[in-house]
Amino acid sequence: MSSVGIDQISFYTSNYYLDLRTLARAQNTDPEKYYVGIGQEKMGMPAHDEDIVTMAASAAAPLFKSEDSKHISTLLFATETGIDQSKAAGVYVHRLLGLHENCRVVELKQACYSATAAVQMACALVARQPEQTVLVIASDIAKYDLDSPGEATQGCGAVAMLIRANPRIITIDPQVGNYTEDVMDFWRPNYRKTAIVDGKYSTKIYLKSLKRAWEHFRDASSLAFTDLSFFCYHLPFSRMAQKAHRHLSKVNKSPLEVEGIEAQIEGSLLYNKLIGNSYTASLFIGLTSLLENSKNNLSGQRIGFFSYGSGCVAEFFSGTVVDGYEKWLFKELHMAMLDSRSELAYEQYLELYHAPDPRNGESMEITADTKGKFRLANISDHKREYIAL
Ligand code: HMG
Repeated sequence: MSSVGIDQISFYTSNYYLDLRTLARAQNTDPEKYYVGIGQEKMGMPAHDEDIVTMAASAAAPLFKSEDSKHISTLLFATETGIDQSKAAGVYVHRLLGLHENCRVVELKQACYSATAAVQMACALVARQPEQTVLVIASDIAKYDLDSPGEATQGCGAVAMLIRANPRIITIDPQVGNYTEDVMDFWRPNYRKTAIVDGKYSTKIYLKSLKRAWEHFRDASSLAFTDLSFFCYHLPFSRMAQKAHRHLSKVNKSPLEVEGIEAQIEGSLLYNKLIGNSYTASLFIGLTSLLENSKNNLSGQRIGFFSYGSGCVAEFFSGTVVDGYEKWLFKELHMAMLDSRSELAYEQYLELYHAPDPRNGESMEITADTKGKFRLANISDHKREYIAL
């Protein structure tokens, strides 16, 4: 059977960010707590007319520059920032991207984990019908209460991936390790805009799930820890991945020194430090960061992935980077996007944070603000109108 995996990958984040030094100043906190303690520098803030739909469409748009979007058979949309209890956000994206009317669309949810479920389901669909291409998009806005410990770990971003047979970027192995446990570490009831989080507990459950998912992976796969050269973790903040990787290295008695262990993940952390938590998208933005910023050519290298979604569901899986992958990356586009973002003053951040969100059917024209390719133009009669720019 032919291999299956990620054929193209592109991400998007909004054009605004708050430097965590600005947040620290406003909170009278030592900025080193953020820059060093949690390993984060900036957090992305969505523009007024940006949401998971516009970010998703902007993430996917580069994938269709050189090819037709009409051949996509399925769009799987992973998010925990749903805009509707019924209609899948991907249906709006289907129109904005001009996908074929015979393309199926569905939304998946399980906190930050669901993008991994989407990738695995996409691989299974392609394994069954190798001529198919599945588009997986993960798009999220991480929002916590002001003045809560989670505030500095906000962020926003979307990642889009084409899943195909004989992929050009990375093949995904079928063997996985899973762990599920009913816990309340982080959740967001339908009536809330911000997550409720038991922060310290969530970090403990993250590490416990890593160990359990790894143990299951070790039973399912013939790969040993030392067969994996690089690792990508779910990234609520970059220090979490450093702690997790140290933990896994210790569990497996890694022969590497501290610097060697750090080097296995550092490339994957760069974009997250500048964007913040992008929930479902973060693991795969981390992969993009590794592929685009690694000092070495990664062809033939095996990567271990740890996906974690609070609540909780976790998965450890693996993949191998394909020869020539570097030709198919969108590194320049991503760098230009990050470089052209505007820094927010604290008051501007608060204004975006409190942006109105009509709930009673009242009409609202939305300030044109995004530098992306799509915008949310207005909301009226409970309907959201998206346009391409
Ligand atoms: P906190 O409790 O305010 O921070 O928030 P802290 O006091 O634990 O400090 C953090 C670190 O900074 C500590 O290092 C301090 O020592 C250090 P550690 O002990 O951890 O190694 N520190 C300093 N370092 C240098 N200079 C200083 C300084 N001061 C302190 N001056 C917390 C931390 C994680 C609780 C908070 O950020 C939070 O609640 N975040 C949200 C929850 C979260 O991200 N959890 C992660 C695991 S769960 C997950 O990943 C799932 C998630 O993405 C959701 C989903 O699945 O959908 C969240």
